[in-house]
Amino acid sequence: MKLLVTGGAGFIGSNFIHYILEKYSDYRVVNLDLLTYCGNLENLKDVENDPRYKFVKGDICDVDLVNNLVKNCDAVIHFAAESHVDRSILDPGPFVRTNVLGTLALLNAARNNNNKRFHHVSTDEVFGSLGPTGYFNENTPYDPGSPYSASKAASDHFVRAYFHTYKLPITITNCSNNYGEYEFPEKLIPLFVTNLLEGKNVPLYGDGLNVRDWLYVIDHCEAIDVVLHKGKIGETYCVGGNEEKTNLEITYKILEILGFGKDKIEFVADRKGHDRRYAIDATKIKKELGWGPKYKFDSALKQTVAWYKTHEAWWQRIKSGEYLKYYEAQYGKK
Ligand code: NAD
Ligand code: DAU
Repeated sequence: MKLLVTGGAGFIGSNFIHYILEKYSDYRVVNLDLLTYCGNLENLKDVENDPRYKFVKGDICDVDLVNNLVKNCDAVIHFAAESHVDRSILDPGPFVRTNVLGTLALLNAARNNNNKRFHHVSTDEVFGSLGPTGYFNENTPYDPGSPYSASKAASDHFVRAYFHTYKLPITITNCSNNYGEYEFPEKLIPLFVTNLLEGKNVPLYGDGLNVRDWLYVIDHCEAIDVVLHKGKIGETYCVGGNEEKTNLEITYKILEILGFGKDKIEFVADRKGHDRRYAIDATKIKKELGWGPKYKFDSALKQTVAWYKTHEAWWQRIKSGEYLKYYEAQYGKK
């Protein structure tokens, strides 16, 4: 099988490429990635000479390029996106371009090339925010709160519309917060770990009591693999770790692993429109496809922190460049 993976130089995409090449010796992977600020070919250094892997630098909005690549693959696994909520609050434009128009370009290419199999990697944020109880599932109405989640919701709707209208063989996964190796250090866990390793404070938004449902990235890769191969065409699957934690709990765990005290926590202004709680009911994918998370939060978090400790050059290069400018523009020089 030949897979076109979009956004394969990012966090989840690069983990997915590693996962696929390790698991399926006869699969080939073409990775289409624009290498935006968070796309990093260092994430794939160990496979760059693998004859089963090919990298193409390009934009998912480039209709001709995308058409040619889709023509020569069996299935599209679509990760490429602007993925950071804080950036979407500062400037929604790139989110609409990549997440909506880029997805549309890929859907058209899939449709124009004999209705290629299309898997769309989406997020639980399309459902909005939960109160203190309840869970998101496949029947939860869409209610996106941030420009990021609005753009992902729009892309989900287009994917479903292409199934409904053109019978494009699609599936969608809506997944909760991932953590693990190769995550760009602007997101909560890698930002806090790397800040502490640099001797800095960690900026906790608001009261720190917002809740996310955490899933180790390899569990997410496995869920996508299962849906790609066994998922029912036209269906959506909610994917989550059943590991609800407040941001404060996460922060305490990271401080403990690295041997720092609570004085490192700096409560800062809250994110605008900050969703309070996400939690996934993953019964459907468990019952119908037999998927469930294999990694436990505490041990996989320790493993993740250990990776950042031993890959300092990887994140130092990132933090000394583009990322720092963004961070300072938002929170001032630290
Ligand atoms: P990421 O920001 O780490 O990676 C995104 C990748 O897409 C980068 O390599 C970037 O260069 C590439 N890209 C961006 N714009 C592009 C364009 N126009 N053309 C081609 N490539 C482009 O993101 P991530 O955290 O790995 O997320 C991957 C996908 O998974 C996204 O669709 C995101 O919405 C979804 N998702 C993420 C999480 C999470 O916790 N990170 C959870 C659920 C769903
Ligand atoms: O739920 C899935 C989503 O998870 C994905 O679709 C997104 O692509 C991914 O970025 C992630 O979104 P979040 O906004 O939940 O992730 P982030 O790591 O940015 O923030 C997690 C929580 O931590 C959130 O409540 C905001 C808080 N936070 C974040 C940062 C970066 C802080 O308190 N301080 C921070 O500096």
